[in-house]
Amino acid sequence: MRPWRYAPAVPHPPPREISIRPTTAADVPSLFAFECEPAANERAGTKPRDWPTFESRWAEILADIDGTRTRVVPRVILADGEVVGAVNISPQGDADAIGYWIAKEHWGRGIASRAVERMLEEYTRRPLYATVAAGNAPSLRILEKFGFVIESRERTPETARCVARETVSLVLR
Ligand SMILES: CC(C)(COP(=O)(O)OP(=O)(O)OC[C@H]1O[C@@H](n2cnc3c(N)ncnc32)[C@H](O)[C@@H]1OP(=O)(O)O)[C@@H](O)C(=O)NCCC(=O)NCCS
Repeated sequence: MRPWRYAPAVPHPPPREISIRPTTAADVPSLFAFECEPAANERAGTKPRDWPTFESRWAEILADIDGTRTRVVPRVILADGEVVGAVNISPQGDADAIGYWIAKEHWGRGIASRAVERMLEEYTRRPLYATVAAGNAPSLRILEKFGFVIESRERTPETARCVARETVSLVLR
């Protein structure tokens, strides 16, 4: 029987090298494919945007790459040179929040942990917030490994981006 870890059916070894770099227009179709994966949305308690909405949001972000207007710091994650996900800083009210997303076939390889570590080294403004579906145990584990602490937990209604869910808010000070 499989242990509780959500290891892929055929486990891949951890990548040799994980890095992050600024997102470009050429990455946007891959990011959209990641956003549409049903298992990822189920884990995150989210709903994918449609392509016109997604593309126009990314056009706005990439037209303002220093983040003056959008306050977004967008990074793609490379594992052994392949784009496998994203880690972004986005505004949450007056503060900043971190979010990340890994292509399903690469789950369980330690990639999100190392990408978050790199973003926390690069982006040093604190406090930094994160919101996570309460059932997303791997995401909570990643944040707690890097010192985020739970501030609140509440039942949140369905929105354009999220299903009705229990949402945990964390902060790194
Ligand atoms: C959540 C997600 C980012 C994790 O990415 P990943 O690259 O597989 O994560 P990692 O391999 O770096 O780390 C997962 C950690 O969770 C742990 N974990 C896995 N399943 C777990 C479970 N059921 N309970 C507790 N911890 C668990 C792993 O053991 C690992 O911790 P460790 O390093 O101490 O062993 C990925 O599943 C994903 O992209 N999901 C869809 C989008 C999403 O949920 N984004 C986050 C929104 S807040």
